[in-house]
Amino acid sequence: MSERTLVLVKPDGVARGLVGEVIARIERKGLKLAALELRTADRATAEQHYAEHDGKSFYADLVDFITGGPLVALVVEGVRAVPAFRQLAGGTDPIEKATPGTIRGDFGTEVQFNLVHGSDSVESAEREIKIWFPNL
Ligand code: TYD
Ligand code: MG
Repeated sequence: MSERTLVLVKPDGVARGLVGEVIARIERKGLKLAALELRTADRATAEQHYAEHDGKSFYADLVDFITGGPLVALVVEGVRAVPAFRQLAGGTDPIEKATPGTIRGDFGTEVQFNLVHGSDSVESAEREIKIWFPNL
């Protein structure tokens, strides 16, 4: 059945002009866009979004990075949209894990600059969609 996932084209992806590339891959996979907004995240939003990583070594840099410039937030919908977008994105580390043919594998440079976020479960997606699109 159809489900929703929260996707971010992170500030590195926007700065590098890869928004269209990411959206084209989402659409070619057969997924639909249910919401889309260009915005600069405030710290409260970023901290809520990445709450599971609070206390980890990379957390402070991650919040600085994600709030450091405009990003594109999307709600993407379709059959098994959560794992389908994770597959399009590729593994977290663009060099060590993501394979060629994935967004991170094709364009990512290092783990912090891995271009996109995708929810990791349906429960995470529901939580994250409320953070980014409270009126949806
Ligand atoms: P995580 O949720 O583990 O990865 P994913 O985005 O694939 O769900 O981590 C969130 C983000 O934190 C990740 O996209 C990039 C950043 N990050 C680092 O900067 N260093 C790290 O060692 C890890 C694991 C993640
Ligand atoms: Mg994650």
